[in-house]
Amino acid sequence: MSAPAVGLHEFSVVSNEPAAEGLMRVVLSAPALARELSAGQFVNVAVPGDASQVLRVPLSFSRADGEAGTVEIVYAVVGDGTRRLAAMAAGETSTAVGPCGNPWPLPAGARRACVVAGGVGITPVVACARMLAGAGVAFDAVVGAQTAGRLWGADVLEGLGAGRVVVTTDDGSAGRAGFTTAALADLLAEGGYDVVYTCGPEVMMAGVARLCREAGVACRVSMERMMGCGFGACNTCNVAMADGTYRSCCKDGPVFDAEEVAW
Ligand SMILES: Cc1cc2nc3c(=O)[nH]c(=O)nc-3n(C[C@H](O)[C@H](O)[C@H](O)COP(=O)(O)OP(=O)(O)OC[C@H]3O[C@@H](n4cnc5c(N)ncnc54)[C@H](O)[C@@H]3O)c2cc1C
Ligand code: FES
Repeated sequence: MSAPAVGLHEFSVVSNEPAAEGLMRVVLSAPALARELSAGQFVNVAVPGDASQVLRVPLSFSRADGEAGTVEIVYAVVGDGTRRLAAMAAGETSTAVGPCGNPWPLPAGARRACVVAGGVGITPVVACARMLAGAGVAFDAVVGAQTAGRLWGADVLEGLGAGRVVVTTDDGSAGRAGFTTAALADLLAEGGYDVVYTCGPEVMMAGVARLCREAGVACRVSMERMMGCGFGACNTCNVAMADGTYRSCCKDGPVFDAEEVAW
């Protein structure tokens, strides 16, 4: 069966509430989109409130519930678009383009995985954990944030059946003090992972990619770029590849094999 084509979907906001410091959790009602999305893909959301702002906001999702017809997104409020999104109340409507990009791949025969999330990179990582749980693949998780107040999702990952959830904070205010990469290094040293999935700040993903290469474990990364169209038409979202070429984050990604990326 071929993948669903990218389309324009109307949505209404079901709820839009704080999830942690600087983070919001919005649930959209968009039945067709919810059925079509696969973990790792993203949507490009038109946020009303300023007619001069024509660019959509690309956002991953943490859950697409085909039965309920809803899409859950946890997002950081960082600028004008996400501030307007945070102001959308239940019942307000707009449109989203999707499903955009490619899903997290599940290597044939994978039995044990580790997911690593830094900051707001938690959103597609939670979707990844749902995919793993649904496929019967055992997984551990590392979830990091700058500080305790900005953590989201560790309990969700536990609820999804993660074997271990290691929480890290840069300032030591929750869990283990330090970066996610230090925690991952310890888990990799124990061995047994077939694949690592990660999303977070690019410097963190570069570190995760290096650790996985050294351990001989496959690694998939979800990249972020500024985006215009979200479906391969505007050439604004290039990602440099290790072989000297460029690929589009929106259409060829956002998920890449870490070995292919020029870090
Ligand atoms: C495929 C994809 C999935 C994403 N998923 C999520 C998600 O699940 N949750 C979430 O919180 N954010 C996610 N982002 C990032 C999100 O799109 C940006 O934070 C958002 O577009 C900022 O818009 P703004 O108008 O609020 O801020 P702006 O005023 O446009 O920018 C504010 C700051 O954010 C930076 N920024 C803007 N757009 C991006 C971008 N696309 N990537 C990286 N930095 C950007 C700007 O350089 C600036 O420093 C995702 C981005 C991509 C490309
Ligand atoms: S955002 Fe237009 S080509 Fe990627």
